[in-house]
Amino acid sequence: MTMTRRDCIAAGLILAGCGSKPKMDERRDVHSFAVPAQVRVKHMDLDVEVDFERKQIRGTVTHTLVRTDRDAPLVLDTRDLKIEKVEAAENAQAAFNQAQFSMGSPDAILGSALTVPLSSGVTAVRVHYATSPAATALQWLEPSQTAGRKRPFLYTQSQAIHARTWIPLQDTPAVRMTYRGRVRTPKDLIALMSARADFRLGNPKEEPNGEYTFRMPQAIPSYLVALAVGQLEFRYISSRTGVWAEPSIVKLAEAEFEDMERMMVAAEKLAGPYAWNRYDVLVLPPSFPFGGMENPLMTFATPTILAGDKSLVSLVAHEMAHSWSGNLVTNATWRDFWLNEGFTTYFERRMLEEVYGTERARMEAVLGRQELDREMATLPTAERVLHIDLKGRDPDDGSTLVPYEKGALFLTALEQAFGREKFDAFLQAYFAKFRFQSITTEQFTAFLKSRLLDSDTAAAAKVDIAEWIEKPGIPANAPQATCESFQPVEAVARQWTEREAPETKPATGGWNTHQWIHFLRALPKELDRKRRTALDRTFGFSKSGNSEVLFEWLIVHVRNGEFSPKLEEFLVRVGRRKYVKPLFEEMVKRPEGLKRAKEIFEKARGGYHALTVSAVEEILKKPPSRA
Ligand code: BES
Ligand code: ZN
Repeated sequence: MTMTRRDCIAAGLILAGCGSKPKMDERRDVHSFAVPAQVRVKHMDLDVEVDFERKQIRGTVTHTLVRTDRDAPLVLDTRDLKIEKVEAAENAQAAFNQAQFSMGSPDAILGSALTVPLSSGVTAVRVHYATSPAATALQWLEPSQTAGRKRPFLYTQSQAIHARTWIPLQDTPAVRMTYRGRVRTPKDLIALMSARADFRLGNPKEEPNGEYTFRMPQAIPSYLVALAVGQLEFRYISSRTGVWAEPSIVKLAEAEFEDMERMMVAAEKLAGPYAWNRYDVLVLPPSFPFGGMENPLMTFATPTILAGDKSLVSLVAHEMAHSWSGNLVTNATWRDFWLNEGFTTYFERRMLEEVYGTERARMEAVLGRQELDREMATLPTAERVLHIDLKGRDPDDGSTLVPYEKGALFLTALEQAFGREKFDAFLQAYFAKFRFQSITTEQFTAFLKSRLLDSDTAAAAKVDIAEWIEKPGIPANAPQATCESFQPVEAVARQWTEREAPETKPATGGWNTHQWIHFLRALPKELDRKRRTALDRTFGFSKSGNSEVLFEWLIVHVRNGEFSPKLEEFLVRVGRRKYVKPLFEEMVKRPEGLKRAKEIFEKARGGYHALTVSAVEEILKKPPSRA
């Protein structure tokens, strides 16, 4: 008997060991062992305890199944999980009986398949399990790593394929399921999930003590299942939006996010009604490795966006936009990730335009393009493609700026070729057609062709779809982002290039954060100490409370071989990869920088998330080289 690739996976054999030539199903997700075409999870009941002492989540998950192939087993994804027992039943309410199961040999990236043969009539499977310290989805924080410094904190980060390290499930975005959660925590801590809470918001008397239940009645992919536990308070922004944060920063967060309702109105105008009940943002401690994560109903966000002047709220617009592009219309596999992030980046700027005006959106687009060009130059050709091939790789490798900024640029090119009116109608149709579905790039292209391209061949001729999606780099006729606000900025940057310091203090009084970021990027790459000191004396960058400005300023320093105490303080406090990676990358270009980098990493690593730790370890492995 020759085994197909699917049989091998179902049997729990490692992919590489499969004897026969696999028949590749284009839709199959290479990052999951699950075979949803045979047996698919449609609902999940999670019942767990959060144990801060042992840093462990344990309990049960009960999956309700749709069985298309009566002979096929249920295959779940797991990584670093302790599977204690498996039970099966006719349905989730019936009596459960012990069931056989087997674990496939572990793959470093994918983990191990958990295969449960199903006898006839079984439609519910319960797994008793516990997490291990290696779970990459979990970050357990000591009290000292929180704003309050008194109580511990836990949060999960499931995207891309980390959900399988805290729940055995079908960990592919092609599978959508509803879920319920029951979570037991220490009595004084609050649990939040990416779902509707069964307790009343903001009323401590009505908040349950130590046992929380949640419902997600809309089908979502596994990477959007999320949990956070900590000492938290809630503030309403509008009747349907709000913010959760530690008590000492909740007021700051409330003020920063005051435009959330206006953003919501702008988004609905573009993409149709908000489908998810409430929209709240949870502000996490500074070790959170991302800027934001679009967990449905409950975006998780870094506190580094609390600048005090709403200048960094594009991140909230971005995560909110995912409520449509990503959470409603979802990438079917991780090679379609650009459908999530490119649409969202485009959508985010349209929202900013609506709420803060055209110039704000343009500035963000110019800065985005700068970052894209800078990163693209360092990427291998194969990674400069939207429809990226990630077979055999960790899908997190695909999260460069290419899916974000090149994706957004592609949609901007379409908008410009067809005009806003037509393009907006296409967007509305896209969200209406694919809501609550997971789709591939091919499905998008087919829909684009029938709904937009075929309607106007002259416009269609201006955008080479195949080049945008399948070829590396940026097409020569791509839209050019420009904005007027950066012209005076460039003039002042030139003054600092030509002379040691301008004789009179330049007129920078009304500059906004984006102009300052552009200024710091426009400075000459080599800046002697005298000029750096003069710049800081004039503008006070090192005292900036704006994390983006401080980051750009620190980059200027490190690039010029200065490794100040301020740099160490920042890197020990903040674990956001967007800042940590470039600073370490810049440091290791010089031997003395490599030495400092290692010292700083020793102090910082205990507070970093596993993903940030591995990113820095990767950088420190490479020998120093002056770029
Ligand atoms: N969904 C992403 C975060 C993500 C991507 C996590 C891939 C894991 C794997 C989120 O929406 C995002 O894009 N966050 C950005 C901020 C955004 C404003 C560009 C981030 O965290 O930097
Ligand atoms: Zn995103």
